[in-house]
Order: sequence, then structure tokens, then C-alpha cells
Amino acid sequence: TDSTESAAALLAWYDRHRRALPWRALPGETPDPYRVWLSEIMLQQTTVTAVKPYYERFLARFPTVEALAQAPQEAVMQAWAGLGYYSRARNLHACAKMVVAVHGGRFPAEEKALLSLPGIGAYTAGAIAAIAFGKVAVAVDGNVERVMSRLHAVTEPLPSAKPLIRELTLAMVPQRRPGDFAQALMDLGATICTPKKPACVLCPLALPCRARAAALAETFPRKETK
Ligand code: ADE
Repeated sequence: TDSTESAAALLAWYDRHRRALPWRALPGETPDPYRVWLSEIMLQQTTVTAVKPYYERFLARFPTVEALAQAPQEAVMQAWAGLGYYSRARNLHACAKMVVAVHGGRFPAEEKALLSLPGIGAYTAGAIAAIAFGKVAVAVDGNVERVMSRLHAVTEPLPSAKPLIRELTLAMVPQRRPGDFAQALMDLGATICTPKKPACVLCPLALPCRARAAALAETFPRKETK
């Protein structure tokens, strides 16, 4: 099965099973880059369940990047309190100020420009470019590495397999809905293609999955033995 068919199967699954999350635009709506960015920063080291109430409160308090940029540091830290990893909050505030001062209050759409902003690394830049701006970009985290390493039965162990997995993921991104594709991979990894006992019978990629064909899904990703 080629990657175009696999991507289409994944998107069709996402249309039926997508998780309704507060930072996700409804189908047909234009995503707000500020909201996408805020959610991706919060989700860097915190689970979806824990992020939800913080995200809603934070957004009510700072509805725009301008509002956040103008807020006192203490107010930002207070709204973040409880989420942990407080350097994220300091970078968040610095990033908002930079988006206002350098980019006129609009997040840049290119991954490279996003990467130069405080607190935005490769994963977050890819997520924002794809989800907020519809760019052909990937957000590869541990969940996506697991899905892709199984789909292609990547025997090279992590972390050395990272560049290969990134290329395999990029090669699968559809031109049409890259943001939905990125989030579909996240949802698949979180709900179906789990580390233990993956629910292959429910998986939209079961047919093309090379690991499943060999009854070895659970053995991927391979890890460097130390
Ligand atoms: N984890 C990181 N980004 C996410 C997103 N946009 N949706 C669900 N889980 C995520």
C-alpha cells in the first residue's frame, strides 16, 4: 500500500474518531495560530487531560497574543501555576512579546521562523506550521515515532532511527490536510497504536502496517540497549 492511500485511510479514520479538544478548530473553521501555539506549548510536557482546564482558563485571561505580551510576568506565572516546567511560561511570555515586536502580532507561518522563537523547538514548529498554517510539516514525538516505526517495521533502534522516521513521516504528509494528518497521527498513537497491546483490529493502518503483518507490533520501536 502506498503512502497516499495510507494517509487517506488515516484521515478518514480521523474524521470519524477525532478527539474533540478545545484547541482544535471545527472542520471548516480557520485555526487561530495563537491558540494552536498556546496548546502545543502546554502539551509539550503535560497530558491532554491535565492541559484542558488550564488552556481554557489561560485563554479566557489572555485571549490574544497582544494581551499576553502586555501582561505582567507575575500574571503569566500565576495563570501557569500548576502546569510545572516553569521555563515554559517564561519562554511563552518572551515569545508573545517577540511575536508582537518582531512580527507585528502575527505568528510566522514558516517552520524556520517559528524555530527562532523562544520555547519553540522542532516538534512545536512542525505542529504549528501544519495545524495553524496548513504547511506540509511534521510533528514527530514519541507517539508518532511508535506509529511510524511499526508501520514501516523500522528495525534501526531509537534514537539513531529518528532522522529516518522523520523522513518516513514527511513522505506520508498529504498536500491537502497536513494539520489534520499531524493530529490524526497523534490521536492514533494515543488511543490505538499504544505501547502495550495496541488495538490493531481498530487501526486504519492495519493493512499496510509491516510490524502487524509480522505479528510484531508491540516490539516496535526498537530501542538502543545500554
Ligand atoms: N499533543 C501535542 N499536540 C497535540 C494536539 N494538537 N492534539 C492532541 N495531542 C497533542
